[in-house]
Parts: sequence; structure tokens; C-alpha cells
Amino acid sequence: MSAHLKQDKPDTANRLDQMKQGTIGQPIPRVEGLAKVTGTAPYAAEYPVEGCVEGVLATATITRGEVVSVDRDSVMDMPGVIAVIEDPRMTTRAAQGTANEAPQQSPRTVCYWGQPVALVVAETFEQARDAAKHLRVEYREESDAPVDPQVVDTEEQEDETVRQGDLARAMSVAENAVDVTYTTKGHASAAMEPHAAIAQWDGRQLTVHASLQMLNYNITELADALDMEEDQVRIISRFVGGGFGSKLGLSEETVAAAIAAMELSRPVRVVMSRQQVFQCIMRRSETTQRLQLAADSEGRLAGFGHKALVSNLPGESFAEPVLQSSHFLYAAENRELMLEVARIHRMTAGSVRAPGEAVGMPTLEGAMDILAERAGIDPVELRLRNIPDKDPEEGLPFSSHKLAECLRQGAEAFGWDTGPRRPRQRREGEWWIGTGMASAARVHNVGEAKARVTIKPDGTALVETDMTDIGTGTYTILAQIAGEMLGLDPAQVLVDLGDTRHPRGSGSGGSWGAASTGSAVYVACQALREEIANRVGIDETALDLADGRVIGGQTLVDLLGGKELGREGHYEPGAIAEDYTASGFGAFFAEVRVNHFTGETRVNRMLGAFGFGRVLNHKTARSQCLGGITWSIGAALTEALEFDPRTGHLVNCDLAEYHVPVHRDVPDVDVIMVEERDPVASPLQAKGIGELGMCGGAAAIGNAVYNACGARLFDYPMTPDRVLAAMPD
Ligand code: MOS
Repeated sequence: MSAHLKQDKPDTANRLDQMKQGTIGQPIPRVEGLAKVTGTAPYAAEYPVEGCVEGVLATATITRGEVVSVDRDSVMDMPGVIAVIEDPRMTTRAAQGTANEAPQQSPRTVCYWGQPVALVVAETFEQARDAAKHLRVEYREESDAPVDPQVVDTEEQEDETVRQGDLARAMSVAENAVDVTYTTKGHASAAMEPHAAIAQWDGRQLTVHASLQMLNYNITELADALDMEEDQVRIISRFVGGGFGSKLGLSEETVAAAIAAMELSRPVRVVMSRQQVFQCIMRRSETTQRLQLAADSEGRLAGFGHKALVSNLPGESFAEPVLQSSHFLYAAENRELMLEVARIHRMTAGSVRAPGEAVGMPTLEGAMDILAERAGIDPVELRLRNIPDKDPEEGLPFSSHKLAECLRQGAEAFGWDTGPRRPRQRREGEWWIGTGMASAARVHNVGEAKARVTIKPDGTALVETDMTDIGTGTYTILAQIAGEMLGLDPAQVLVDLGDTRHPRGSGSGGSWGAASTGSAVYVACQALREEIANRVGIDETALDLADGRVIGGQTLVDLLGGKELGREGHYEPGAIAEDYTASGFGAFFAEVRVNHFTGETRVNRMLGAFGFGRVLNHKTARSQCLGGITWSIGAALTEALEFDPRTGHLVNCDLAEYHVPVHRDVPDVDVIMVEERDPVASPLQAKGIGELGMCGGAAAIGNAVYNACGARLFDYPMTPDRVLAAMPD
């Protein structure tokens, strides 16, 4: 039996607050934590599958053109080699699930350097890797392969364009105006677990162990790629070693493993090397962004302009949504926003860790710091003065809005000195010390989700959905939601995820997982509560459950009388999404030290204050915020994809050359969670949180660099060479 909830109205019933178990919000440790730290949680490549052979992708050594021929004989005599598989279904970008309408995906087209062109299968991984390197491929190379976004024609993304009032006029009459251009480098998702898949067939039935974020969608992609029915395909992704966007869509290793296993009639594993993950899996686009701020003498914005140039391959529909939160973060009557895409032949650009705000907020918040300085206003106060009371473009109310509280509570906890600021006020030996702050914003998303919850005759519960846990805490919070609703200790709730045999969850992406799939569990539990209330003979709203019993009545075990009781919950976002603007908000504060002689920047301490609706688990939520802040440090100081200007191939394709923050880079970080209820965001009143922690944090660091040493930088990341070049004498 199934229960359905389509949310068309704010949910102010606050049912979770009326429950009696008291487990929601508790900082319980991740339920799969022990399995992970003891190495007993199997990741995609680790499932023991008998008779499995190893496939390694061979990748293109041209930027644009066509594969003319693949010379199988060049490797078939090498030790252990079993087969060379060429199949357009696994080697076109269709396998990346992003290129739905790409015009140039004829079977053997090469669009970027490093694109997979064939799969070599051998007895061992080393043999396959060796043969893949030696595989001779003949190409017809096209000479016209632009790789520099600055030198090609651009396409305007029209639905992002906003022209309201007259920005040019607002700029010309403004008492304080800022007109600056920033650049940000491309980013890699940099998940720890490389992309991997093991495929095996049983007649016409395919089972794939893969590392994916969105099984509900990946199953459709895989069935489409292989021209199969979805019920012939099973994907299992119980543990995912980070995704950060790179595993939202299916990529070549999964399709290649499936095709090879079919052709060879035996299981095949395909694991990408770290270099291949960097070179073939999508990148975050580099950006060029112009910010225009027109303010009166008090810093109140009359004009706001944000224009961004991003890039992608020809025909790709994704454009880094740089302006996403710029549309509503600050009030200003005269507005101009525009997003343009340059068509170039670097690998596919796609969603990477907080697509949009991760690079849009640090530039906007850098410009706001300049405005605060020009206007002689405290940067916190400047933000407070410009918080709109409704969406300044759509005119919609905000679902809930805790920016002001985050700014105030964050400033207080950080020990922010209010008032106008001047750079270069504190030096300790070689080091300039300074502080900076920035706002955080990240749109809230939800998606359709289903989950089945079953109370077993022994009084335990089982939650089943194909939802994934990509290291975020999904297993844990779903146990807490079911436990709260059904009056069970979360330890009594088994959560079974990451299997397409289960009802379709929302998948993990865009920070929507907890609110969406959590709501499906909530809906299922609500239906179970109604059935229990029915059996007890009372109204559901009067039913109090705790510790496995009806308070003042029977145990669940007695009530069930040896039979299990299950319900499927189906949650759908409804019309409410059209009636409100929903976003998480927050504030970052950072103290840095900058070396006067080397330009090296170290973050001394950092604090983030965030409002994202109900906190489902204070430990997992805090960890998400800490992770986001850590990525902020990377975006501010080190992370940059570097491309060869001739071929567009990625040069720094490993975790040594592409530097994400490591322990030495991450100081004491403090997180304040400003608890709130958002009745619009979801029936749980929770909003997305995973990505909010990196949406603006880089600007707090950049602004602190300026405050410390007087170097105002317009290019992220702020590497020592750039800091030194911008430092006054
Ligand atoms: Mo996210 S970058 O939508 O996984």
C-alpha cells in the first residue's frame, strides 16, 4: 500500500515536533561508520565476483575529430589480453548522461582530449592498463578545436537574463559604485573513490555494482544506453566514496563494463585511474564574472549587475549556474544579470560541488567587501542593510530567511570587530593578520522520492529506497526519521539503500537528498501511524509512540501479532515551489595570515553560521558544514584545473597537482546552526545543507587576505604568486 503527498501548501503541522521518541536532531554517529573505518563496507570495485576480468578504457589523444580505426592486433598478443571492445554506446558522451541533444555525437566522434574510445579487457588490471596504453588508434583530426573560452563566440542563456530598471543610470548616479571583473578557475569534483563498475549478466538480466549518486535516474540512463527495459537492469551502489557531482550521471566505465560483460559472457570490472577521472569526468567550468554594484551613501543598493561567462562543449545543455543566488540575495531595483556560454573542446562541464554559487558567491561577496570599504561601512552591516523582504526579481516571499540571524550570531561568536575597516593593521613577524566575512546562499531543491517502510513482527523497522548515501549521512538520518515517527530507537531501524530493486528515492545531488527522500520516509511512516492508530482505535494525532510501544498501551510486537506491516511513501514537490523562493542562508568569518615575503596564505580560524531549516542530526549536519567550509578553503587558495592551451587537455590530473585542502590547510573551524522550521521546504521543514558551506566562504578568506596585507585579488584561487603580485610595497 502506498501513501502519496504532493506538497502544494506550507506544512505548518510540525508533526515531527509532536513525536515522542526524541531522536530527530540527536548527534548520533553515522550508522555505517564502523563498517567504513574498518574497511568492511564494500565500494563498487570491491565486490567479490567470481571469474571477473578487468577492463581499462583507452582514451583519445586528439582534441577533436574522429576515430578512423582501432587496431586490435596491436595489443591482442600482449599478455593476458582477452578483448578490445569498441562500441559507440560506451564511448560517446551519451554515456555521460549529459549530452541528450548534442548534435555531434555520431558514433566515433572525439570532442575532447582524453575521451574514452575503446575498452581493453585482460585477465589482470595491470595487463589491461598496459594494453590500453599500447592500443593503436587512427584518428582523423580536425584542426578547428577551440579550447580558450575567451576567443570564441558566446551564447546567451536567455532564461538567466534579467533586465530590470536601468543599471547604467544607477551606476552613473551612485554615490558608491563598484565595477569589477573576477575570474575563477575550473574545479574537479575530486571524490576519493574513483569511478568504478562491475557488470554481470544472468541471461537477459544485468546487475551492475557501480559508484553513482542518482540510481533513480541512472537506471533509466543505463537501460537507454543498452536499449533495454529498466526491469532487466539492477544497479547497486550501497557505499559511495564521495560524488560531489561527478557521479550524478552515468559515465563510460559503467556502460563499458556492461557491454564488455555481455560480449564476453563473463563479469567485467572497469575502474578508472585517478588521471582518467580527472580527464574524462566532468569539470566545473572556469568563469569570468563582472560585478556592478551601485549604492547610496549608506550602502543601500540601487543597482546590481552580475554577468558571467562559462564554457562547455558544443551541444551540451549544462551551463554553470553562476547567477543562481545572485537573483535574490540582495535588494536593488535596477538589475542586469546575464550568463553566457563559450563552446570549447575541453571535457564536458557539469555539476561539481554546489554548481553556481560555489563560484558565483565568492565573486559577489568580494565585490560587496569593496563596496563596504568605499562606503566606509562595516561589511556585516552592509549585508544587513541590503537583505530584501521578498525576492527582488520574482516578487515572491521567501520560504524562510535566516541571513540576518546568521550574520549577527556569526559575528558575535567569531568576535568580529564592527565598524569601518582598514587593511594592514596587524603584523606578527613575517605575517600580516586579518579578518574577512561573506554571506552564504544556496538555493533549496527537492525532488520526487519513494521509500518503503516496514515494521517487522519483532518490532524493528526496515527502510528501503534506492537512495544513495555518498558520505553525507543518509543511512543515519533516515533511521532517525523513521525512528521518530514510529517510536523506535534508530538502532532498531535498518536502512537499506542503493539498490534499484527498492522504490525510487531522490538520489543524492543538489543538497536535495535529506529533504526529499526523508520526506518519502516520513510519508510512509505517517501511513503506518494511521494504520496503528486504526488498530488501537484512536485518532492518529492522538497516537504517541515511543520505545517500541504505544505510550500507555501495547507494544508494537503485540499489535502486529506476528505479521509485518509495510507502507510505501511517495513524496512529490508540488505547486508550492512556484509560490516561494527557497534558499539556505548563512555567513562566513575567517581570520588569515599572509606571509609578507612569500605571499603564502594560511587560514588561522574560520566560522560558518547557517540556517537550513530543521537540523535532522546535529553531528552529520555539522560535518556537512565543515566539509563545505573545507572546500571553501580550496576554492579560495589552491583548487585550479590547468589546461594545455594548445590541446585543451587537463595537465594537473591527480590529487598531488590538483590541491584540495588537507589537514594542514584546515584550521579550527566553528559551525553555528541557526535552527529554524521551513514549512515550504519540505514536510520535514528541512532544507538542503550539503553545499551551503562552500557558497561564499572563499570570499571570506579573500576579504581577509585584503584586510591582512592590502592585496585585493580578482582571480581565484589566490595562490602565493598572485598574492605577492597584488601586495602593496
Ligand atoms: Mo551535486 S554537484 O548536485 O552532486
